[in-house]
Amino acid sequence: MTQDPNADAQVAPTEVGANAAESGERQLTPEASDAYASHEVPGDRPHSVAELGHAASRLDPDAPAVLTVDNLKMYFPVRSSGVVRRTIGHVQAVDGISFEVPKGGSLGLVGESGCGKSTTGRLITRLYKPTGGSMMFEGNDLAKLSNKEMKPLRRDVQMIFQDPYTSLNPRHTVGTIVGAPLEVHKIVPKNQVLSRVQELLEVVGLNPEHYNRYPNEFSGGQRQRIGIARALTLNPKVLVADEPVSALDVSIQAQVVNLLQDIQREFDVAFLFIAHDLAIVRHFCPEIAVMYLGKIVEIGDRETIYSRPHHPYTQALLSAVPDVKQAAVGGRRERIRLEGDVPSPINPPSGCRFRTRCQFAQEICAKVEPPLLQIGKRHKVACHFAGELGAHPATPVTTELLGVDDQGSPVPGATPSNTQLTIPGYEKTWYDLHTKQTTGV
Ligand SMILES: Nc1ncnc2c1ncn2[C@@H]1O[C@H](COP(=O)(O)OP(=O)(O)OP(=O)(O)O)[C@@H](O)[C@H]1O
Ligand code: SF4
Ligand SMILES: [Mg+2]
Repeated sequence: MTQDPNADAQVAPTEVGANAAESGERQLTPEASDAYASHEVPGDRPHSVAELGHAASRLDPDAPAVLTVDNLKMYFPVRSSGVVRRTIGHVQAVDGISFEVPKGGSLGLVGESGCGKSTTGRLITRLYKPTGGSMMFEGNDLAKLSNKEMKPLRRDVQMIFQDPYTSLNPRHTVGTIVGAPLEVHKIVPKNQVLSRVQELLEVVGLNPEHYNRYPNEFSGGQRQRIGIARALTLNPKVLVADEPVSALDVSIQAQVVNLLQDIQREFDVAFLFIAHDLAIVRHFCPEIAVMYLGKIVEIGDRETIYSRPHHPYTQALLSAVPDVKQAAVGGRRERIRLEGDVPSPINPPSGCRFRTRCQFAQEICAKVEPPLLQIGKRHKVACHFAGELGAHPATPVTTELLGVDDQGSPVPGATPSNTQLTIPGYEKTWYDLHTKQTTGV
């Protein structure tokens, strides 16, 4: 049985927050809603995001990081049953992940169910207090702050939840749901709350006159728009979107993704975008991190991840999606079937966590954890045998860096190199897999 040690820290980010001064610098305006209608039915047959969406979001390689996550960990204690409940283990839900979210950009987080995506989002919004690591945001380490110290920062990091049916209080009107944070945090004077709520409803493509209706009077897509309006209320700088469209019909998904793109452009808000749907992530996120059992196994720009993935898990994941299969595996190959179940995060495999399901696993994979190694300008991978599909090397590429032999045993006198193994962002130089030398631009 598991228990969350942070139960007392679980406060919805929109309900706690800043007593910060009025922010006049990033006012919300309804212009973003002009590009799409508030009606949800574009046609009879389902349309994909690629068909109905705006152009895919672009990468700005020079954008500074708004959020820097370094070696982040979340271990949930597992307690024994009975009167005296002892801690008998830990669920290693997130185990030492590092990444950057660029200002105004979006990082996608993908991976199978249970790999730690939502936990990562909940750590960033500080619904959970991390077991370890840091999350730097505007000079503050969100991981270390007390709940009281977090208050002024909560408005800056907000969350859009997956399920528009359960994330809105059915007993409150839309006006109350969207307006409450404005009142509680005195973002606008009381007599201006209604007009601001209406403005926000217009921003997300809803009829501003519907502020006095209840959630059950709206469709799924419209409810998700209400959730987005609520997340925007406090003018956040980072939005964690946890499966924001997966509960919606395909055609409506495109409209909501369009809305999120418009909002991102207009308000310069950065996204951590969590999703199962690799086609949607490809559209929305110029940069993508792939998680497996609490670890990031590969991270890179969209082009690299979808066209030249180097981790066997990413290759398998992409091969299962018809829409992206061609780019990922050259179009002619069959789906790569992953054998077995995902192991338990309470007792994960030694060395590489993917080894129990990996067709390339060798002795070294059980002995030594592969570091998340930068192998390109914007590409990191954690695999001893990293390589393009069909071109995985016969011998491990990490031995010299780690000071081990091909079986993973330490080489006497060898000096392991720590360079390029741990920083959250990208270095200007990287490890070239072919020459086994450091290279750069
Ligand atoms: N509060 C908690 N207490 C104990 N274990 C937890 C808790 N929350 C999550 N876990 C465990 O942590 C692991 C990661 O869960 P998480 O919800 O982050 O996965 P996910 O990648 O979001 O999955 P999904 O795609 O199904 O939403 C899972 O094994 C889950 O059972
Ligand atoms: S390190 Fe080994 S087990 Fe892990 S993905 Fe690479 S080849 Fe597979
Ligand atoms: Mg989840």
